[in-house]
Amino acid sequence: MTPKRKPLSVVILAAGQGKRMKSDLPKVLQPLAGHPLLAHVLDAAGALKPAMIHVVYGHGGEQVRLAVRAPNLRWVLQAEQLGTGHAVQRAMPGIPDDHDVLVLYGDVPLIRAASLCELLALAGPNSMGLLTAMFDDPTGYGRVVRGARGQVLRVVEQKDCSARELKIRECNTGVLAVPAKLLKRWLAKLKPANAQREYYLTDIIAMAAKDKIRVVPLAATTSSEALGVNDKMQLAALEGEYRRQRALELMQAGVTVIDPARLDVRGAVTCGRDVVLDVNVVLEGPVQLGDGVRVGANCVLSQVQVGRGTHIKPNCVIERAEIGAHCEIGPFSRVRPETTLHDNVHIGNFVEVKKSEIGAGSKANHLSYIGDTLVGTGVNVGAGSVTCNYDGANKWRTEIGDGVFIGSGTMMVAPVKIGAGATIGAGSTITKDAPPGQLTLERSVQRTVEHWQRPVKK
Ligand code: UD1
Ligand code: CA
Repeated sequence: MTPKRKPLSVVILAAGQGKRMKSDLPKVLQPLAGHPLLAHVLDAAGALKPAMIHVVYGHGGEQVRLAVRAPNLRWVLQAEQLGTGHAVQRAMPGIPDDHDVLVLYGDVPLIRAASLCELLALAGPNSMGLLTAMFDDPTGYGRVVRGARGQVLRVVEQKDCSARELKIRECNTGVLAVPAKLLKRWLAKLKPANAQREYYLTDIIAMAAKDKIRVVPLAATTSSEALGVNDKMQLAALEGEYRRQRALELMQAGVTVIDPARLDVRGAVTCGRDVVLDVNVVLEGPVQLGDGVRVGANCVLSQVQVGRGTHIKPNCVIERAEIGAHCEIGPFSRVRPETTLHDNVHIGNFVEVKKSEIGAGSKANHLSYIGDTLVGTGVNVGAGSVTCNYDGANKWRTEIGDGVFIGSGTMMVAPVKIGAGATIGAGSTITKDAPPGQLTLERSVQRTVEHWQRPVKK
């Protein structure tokens, strides 16, 4: 049972420009694992089921607002970035006095919901929670200054540190939890009396200590969850950290990962038992892999569901598709959105399938294009066959019945239907419906030119 808590307002600071990114994209929209930094923070915040999430935005304006969504989201404009304290101040008019407030940073994306839960439990009528981290290199972070009895006295920014304070390795992550009423009182008293002439949120720590409100530090479990992203080097470092964590989770769940450093899991991925992932696989969630699924080297699977026992061989790109059990896909297959492959389907090399449904046991093993097509069960599509689905203006559908045999090099000019059990002779261009159960072919007569001789080089 979780203890009963006060209603929660989360404030996410996301107004900064992020100059050091040297990018036209606002910092909080820089992608980590394919999603904006801010989206990761929103996910962590959402897990706490807050009454409201207030995102303070400024740089990037509309672009930031359009890029993310979450329930109970309130946008707060901070037109001028006068400091983290000023940013939180902007959000306070929308926060009732009886709420607890959790402050998060839009550029600290790996923050864990579990830590935030712990931190919230530390906020009470006479106490606030402060998430701290030990960094080997604390450069740039605010330092936590403690008193003789170990009590937290204040947080000093790097630029305001004395030589002695610079040596402190215990850092402020910026994340804190405090009752709204106390926060409002302290924010009203902030002054930009510091090296950067900014309203520092961190100045409230000293105010708390003065008001006999206990500041309870909570050490982050991993330093990565407290890491902020300011430049492309840090962005890449966190991408690596994210990759390591996701691969670890899959291995802990029993997945065989041939090389965790060469697996990229982005978003929600669930795997059954005895799943094997070879090197250079990218999984963009939601991805669901059934028992015994094997994914070969260099495959990209994005929003895909795969049934048990299916083997995806190397170099396949599969997007927004549902794949049945015991299928064989690839090598070098491309399965495009809105495709359903039923059980035991084989899709071979250089075969592209788009917006099509392929029935159980059907095969297209070599060099084919199947688009806007309904393929029945037990069909064989010969090498080099193409559904000609586009007339230059519109897309048309092809229907291929159960048990059909399509000879190699067949062009099916849509709209067209091939009846169940039909056989199409190789090299045919089919422009009219082919009746079921019969051989249909379209082919010019073969002739041999007698006495013909090859030209000779002059
Ligand atoms: C801040 C903390 C520092 C802490 C560090 C952790 C302060 C004064 N300092 O420093 O103690 O160790 O984070 O990462 O709080 N922002 C706004 N509006 C503003 C200013 C900032 O929304 O007016 C946002 C930024 O977009 C960013 C976050 O607040 O997401 C932090 O701001 P930043 O300038 O990066 O603070 P730091 O110098 O890193
Ligand atoms: Ca920062």
